This record gives sequence, C-alpha cells and structure tokens, in this order.
Amino acid sequence: MKEISAQQRIVEIGPEMNPIFMMFQNPLFERIGKDVDYTAVDCDPENVKSFKEFYESRGRGRIIQGYVQEIPLPEEYADQIWIMNVFGRFKSDPSYRGDIFKELTRILKRKGTIHIGELYGPNQSYLIERDYSELGLEKRVYRGKDEARDFWKKLGGPVSNFDLLEIGEKEHPFFMELTREN
Ligand SMILES: C[S@@+](CC[C@H](N)C(=O)[O-])C[C@H]1O[C@@H](n2cnc3c(N)ncnc32)[C@H](O)[C@@H]1O
Repeated sequence: MKEISAQQRIVEIGPEMNPIFMMFQNPLFERIGKDVDYTAVDCDPENVKSFKEFYESRGRGRIIQGYVQEIPLPEEYADQIWIMNVFGRFKSDPSYRGDIFKELTRILKRKGTIHIGELYGPNQSYLIERDYSELGLEKRVYRGKDEARDFWKKLGGPVSNFDLLEIGEKEHPFFMELTREN
C-alpha cells in the first residue's frame, strides 16, 4: 500500500456513521481536515444527517448523499477510494444498469487505488475473483483473517480493534486493492 502524502483526496463510499479511519483508531483519522481531504458518499439520508452532525460540523471532511452507481464527483477526483462492508448490505439504485467498477474508476486519479474490504457480511468472494484488467486496474488481494490483519498493520493503526471485530474465516474476510495503471 502506498504512503499517503500531504493533500491527498480520499473518498469513502458507505461510511454509515463514521469514517473507516476513525473506527480502527487509525492515524489517518487525525489527518482528516488537515492534510487529508476526505469526502464520504452514502445513499441513506439518516447516515448523511448523523455524519454532518458529528464530523462535517467539526471540519472532519464532508458527506454527500448519493449512490456508488452514480457518484456525484468529477472525473479523476480521488487518490484513494475506500468501500468497507458495503457490498454485503448493498442498496441498489433501480435505474442503474452499468458496471459499478467503471464508475469507481471514472472518479479515480491515474495511479490511484480503490480499497475494498468485506469483513463481516455475507460472502462477497465474487468481487475478488473478477479480472479488472479491462478497466486498467491491477488487483491485489489480502484474503482471510490473518492477511486482512496484516493489511491493517500496514495502514499504521493499532490492530487491537481489528481483533475485537467478529471476523470469521467462514465469512471469507478480505481486503482488495485495485490500482489504476494509467
Ligand atoms: C454495513 S454498512 C457499512 C458501514 C461501514 N463502512 C463499516 O465498514 O462498518 C453499509 C453502508 O453502505 C451504504 N450503502 C449501501 N448501498 C449503497 C450504495 N449503493 N451507494 C452508497 N452507499 C450505499 C449504507 O447506507 C450503509 O451506510
């Protein structure tokens, strides 16, 4: 995983109430609103309202109501995109007929990375089986509890919270990085 240098733009899809970096007491959370520019997108108006109250009002990034199927952000906007435990609780936009990964790639800068994690929901292993090379994305997978924990260690935060989560081998926890080649 790449170092996060100053003034990078991070977009998180489906944070629910909290930015993912806060949930794991990750040092990145402290940088939101300082040298990390953070934008969340969630389709649920209640989540948007709570996020605004707790984070946006304190200068910790911003949230936009929207669907991952049609992200209300411009092309080549994000250095990093994070999507944690969203596919297992997916809410569809009934009018959408396209490829979500094409839409994600649209808002990703060249050399940027999409981070997807499914830790506690139903098995989403179809996501890691897919070949993303047609979209110009290079895939790296951290599969199973031990590799997923190693991924969090690389991110630089304490892993104690990670171990508290109910993560079971049988639910096939994984992280996946998709890096845009050009
Ligand atoms: C299970 S929660 C995950 C929350 C948090 N990311 C985590 O890892 O615990 C799923 C979140 O994704 C959002 N969500 C579901 N489908 C979505 C979609 N199509 N577009 C945007 N957000 C979506 C939900 O509103 C909810 O906040």
